[in-house]
Amino acid sequence: MTDRRTAVITGASSGIGEACARAFASEGLHVVLGARREAQLAQVADQIVAAGGAATAVPCDVTDAAQVERLVTAALDATGRLDVMVCNAGLGYNGRLDETDADSMRRLMEVNFFGTFHAARAAVAHFRQAGRGHLFIVSSIVGRKGVPRMAAYAATKFAQVGLGESVRAELAGTRVHVTLVYPISTETEFRRAMVREWGLDVSGAGPRQSPEHVAATMVRALRHPRADVYPMRLSRLVPAASALLPGLADWVATRFSRTPK
Ligand SMILES: NC(=O)c1ccc[n+]([C@@H]2O[C@H](COP(=O)([O-])OP(=O)(O)OC[C@H]3O[C@@H](n4cnc5c(N)ncnc54)[C@H](OP(=O)(O)O)[C@@H]3O)[C@@H](O)[C@H]2O)c1
Repeated sequence: MTDRRTAVITGASSGIGEACARAFASEGLHVVLGARREAQLAQVADQIVAAGGAATAVPCDVTDAAQVERLVTAALDATGRLDVMVCNAGLGYNGRLDETDADSMRRLMEVNFFGTFHAARAAVAHFRQAGRGHLFIVSSIVGRKGVPRMAAYAATKFAQVGLGESVRAELAGTRVHVTLVYPISTETEFRRAMVREWGLDVSGAGPRQSPEHVAATMVRALRHPRADVYPMRLSRLVPAASALLPGLADWVATRFSRTPK
């Protein structure tokens, strides 16, 4: 048992979740990592511990509420506390709406939305009792502006935002913070995972950022809680541009659409 803060991070076996785990561990938090690929997850935890941090790996599929509950229980068992929940696990998809079948849409919702729902729900119940806590939800800039060929993915990312904004309002005036994170394209396993999970090989377009950059902006929000994090500063203008000039925003969005190779 230690008196350091504990963060649970879903989807910590690669990409933004992994970078966030390393960055939060460097801040002194005990990080409890959840994802399905046990070997990768254990490797991330081992490297954090070897670097002097505290980490626990817990295999977890976020689509299963019972497994997410077990992840939270494992954090409480290992450290006696839960201070931060990062709902990050997610999966991409590429295809026009008429090419997207209902089973694929449901599966994407299960991972991106219900995974967030299960983890946020478990954490917020605990935070309310404790009277404090910090919930991070990693959405996407596509959770603020739809992009061609990403209707299914955008729907899941908008759903995360609706959940997060509502919970934030429910908790206004308390010491429980809710932060929504809106990365632009980030150099992670995201596209490789689409090949692995769906057999979809797509090319990218537009600016890119590193997962370490996203994690650094999340560390700033951890230190000084804020409602929204736009790791690429200019992208903060996207919701306003979309509301004021929807036609122009759609035209710009087509330039950032990912297409099959
Ligand atoms: N990369 C981008 O361009 C980008 C842009 C904006 C937002 N995002 C969002 O950032 C988040 C992280 O993605 P990333 O870019 O870091 O991609 P990534 O490298 O592919 O990481 C995705 C993570 O989610 C985990 N995951 C997937 N399905 C899961 C499940 N059913 N249960 C538990 N964990 C699961 C993966 O672990 P396992 O496979 O081991 O389970 C992995 O750790 C996602 O929510 C994504 O939508 C990404």
